[in-house]
Amino acid sequence: MQIAPSILDADFSSLQAEIDSLQEADRIHLDIMDGQYVPAVSFDVQDLVGITFPVPIEAHLMVDNPESFFERFITLGCSGIAFHIENTGEATALELLTILKNENIRAGICVDGYTDTDELSDEILEIADQVLLMSVKAGAGGQSFMMEVLDKIESLRARGFGGEIEVDGGVTLENAESLKEAGADIVVVGSALMKRTLPADRAGYIEEMQGI
Ligand code: DX5
Ligand code: ZN
Repeated sequence: MQIAPSILDADFSSLQAEIDSLQEADRIHLDIMDGQYVPAVSFDVQDLVGITFPVPIEAHLMVDNPESFFERFITLGCSGIAFHIENTGEATALELLTILKNENIRAGICVDGYTDTDELSDEILEIADQVLLMSVKAGAGGQSFMMEVLDKIESLRARGFGGEIEVDGGVTLENAESLKEAGADIVVVGSALMKRTLPADRAGYIEEMQGI
């Protein structure tokens, strides 16, 4: 299973060292929260100035008006950007996905833990490179895993979605196996990984996840 560590709960006072401890990962997941779409405020590109990333990065935009964030995260070098269907609705989602694809950015549509994948029309599934399925309610790390996400993965695959499915929230080594069997390609892991503070422990955890 591919793994995209979330740095939401990283120690931002030694962020480069935190990022370097994740260099075995497949990509790094940037959780951007604006205090509008979700109550929490996390970080933005100005908190990442001077940081070098040893692996590709992706932005998960939990923000109002996600399009206004595209430019800065494309400039930062994100290979993927995902925004929330709950925030944009169908028509705008199709527009924004097209913008991202035209910029050669992996175009991701995110479905919150409590939103049904029926919200994703066939047109959206046609155009999206990725569906980011949350297995918690967007807005914080350290929440418990919502098993319902397994049915969502299976339903997307049953509808013929061939793009990447990424699962985000409460993921651990214990539930990753069932996510893989259901058809997920990559998982975001925050607290289960970052609570291990030693780089060697993090590298070991990442390798174990990649072995699933
Ligand atoms: C929650 C974020 C998730 C979260 C993952 O709104 O989108 O990426 O940080 O952290 P854990 O793995 O602790 O749920
Ligand atoms: Zn996320």
